[in-house]
Amino acid sequence: MIMEEFQFRDDFHWGVSTSAFQIEGAHDQYGKGPSIWDKFTENKKNISNRDNAKIACDFYHKYEEDLQTIKALGIPNFRFSISWSRIYPEGYGHINQKGVDFYNRLIDRCLELEIEPWVTLYHWDLPHNIELRGGWTNRRIVDWFFEYTAFCVAHFGDRVKRWMVLNEPMVFTGAGYFLGIHAPGKRGLKNFVPAVHHAVLAQAVSGNIIKDLRPDSIVGTTFSCSLIEPFRPDNEKDIRAAKRVDALTNRLFIEPSLGMGYPLKELPFLKRIEKYMRHDDEARMKFDFDFVGIQNYTREIIKFSRFTPYIGAKLVESKKRNVPTTEMGWEVYPKSLYAMAKKFSAYDGVKQVIVTENGAAFDDEIQNDKIYDSNRISYIAQNLKQLKRAHLENLKVSGYFVWSLLDNFEWSEGYRPRFGIVHVDYKTLNRTIKSSALWYQQVIQYNQTQM
Ligand code: NOJ
Repeated sequence: MIMEEFQFRDDFHWGVSTSAFQIEGAHDQYGKGPSIWDKFTENKKNISNRDNAKIACDFYHKYEEDLQTIKALGIPNFRFSISWSRIYPEGYGHINQKGVDFYNRLIDRCLELEIEPWVTLYHWDLPHNIELRGGWTNRRIVDWFFEYTAFCVAHFGDRVKRWMVLNEPMVFTGAGYFLGIHAPGKRGLKNFVPAVHHAVLAQAVSGNIIKDLRPDSIVGTTFSCSLIEPFRPDNEKDIRAAKRVDALTNRLFIEPSLGMGYPLKELPFLKRIEKYMRHDDEARMKFDFDFVGIQNYTREIIKFSRFTPYIGAKLVESKKRNVPTTEMGWEVYPKSLYAMAKKFSAYDGVKQVIVTENGAAFDDEIQNDKIYDSNRISYIAQNLKQLKRAHLENLKVSGYFVWSLLDNFEWSEGYRPRFGIVHVDYKTLNRTIKSSALWYQQVIQYNQTQM
């Protein structure tokens, strides 16, 4: 392997990502309240193989071992999320001290081991009690999320410097409030449109309170994104359909925070959002993020379709295109990461772009206690080469986090897709380091010795 291909500037952030619901387990222990995902997984029809995340990787009890692994692998940055309903079992009001203690222990251990914590405030596990009040469709969520954010910053902000407000708002509003395939399983524009607006507001309002309370913190948020291309590159209808999907997939959440408003020209159905706008919302939606997290896994190919309401477009699935895919059925197309680094860097208001997630699910086989996941190594290597291209062009790219440290609960797909660079045996909860983790360790080490 030619290591220079993976060499980045000294101030580049190397890390690994996780989220609370997908790894913690201890779902109803130590005072934690139920989240929408606890409820959603109770309905066996919602999740492949009827899986649930009651135990998951049991990170709640095994975090010491996992932090030691991060340390041993020489990974300097660890992204995890706080479970809102572990801190506020009902979403607001009463505090669960045991939950606070847990995150204090986790943060303290990170710092003792010289691992920088990067904390996501909202990675989809909304307190169920808030959903009973309409969840993201209720404007009051902006205040409830503000209360939770302010609490976290006041209690952890003396040690946590790097915050991410929301994880992939397009996915939790689209899959959770439009398609109904993620928690809370709501559908239709009447849910999606207010959920979008309140998430955009919450993103900015909470970003601002972090800065007010701790001006020295570095605040970002994270966006799912994919290169969107027309199926027939010279067909006007496909080109316009791809533009609409691009507006929905890649622009909807970042542009209002930059003061550019919603992409209404491409998405006229979104005009319904005006019903939820108050006179000073345009200004309240803005926040000057220190960095933008981009999370990219694949690209999408789009065809015009008169039968798809609102968007007039449909995906051409990768299995119909005869292209290499991962276990998720997602096309392996690393140039998408380059294209997204370029797209997000091009916004004047964006200061830094950090890849807060990238990685791949593949079927792993344990042979003599070892896992040679060469397909995952190749996936990450190809993506890093594309990121290096962006870096050489002086785009604003300044970090890369692998999704994920551990195999974990992949939402409605359950445990089948394995994204970890560390394997988890869900029966024994034993961890086995995969060759991709050792490869990643070498890349990071090489970068550190070149400083
Ligand atoms: C995005 C999400 O943030 C994460 O929770 C999920 O597991 C990965 N992508 C893979 O789908």
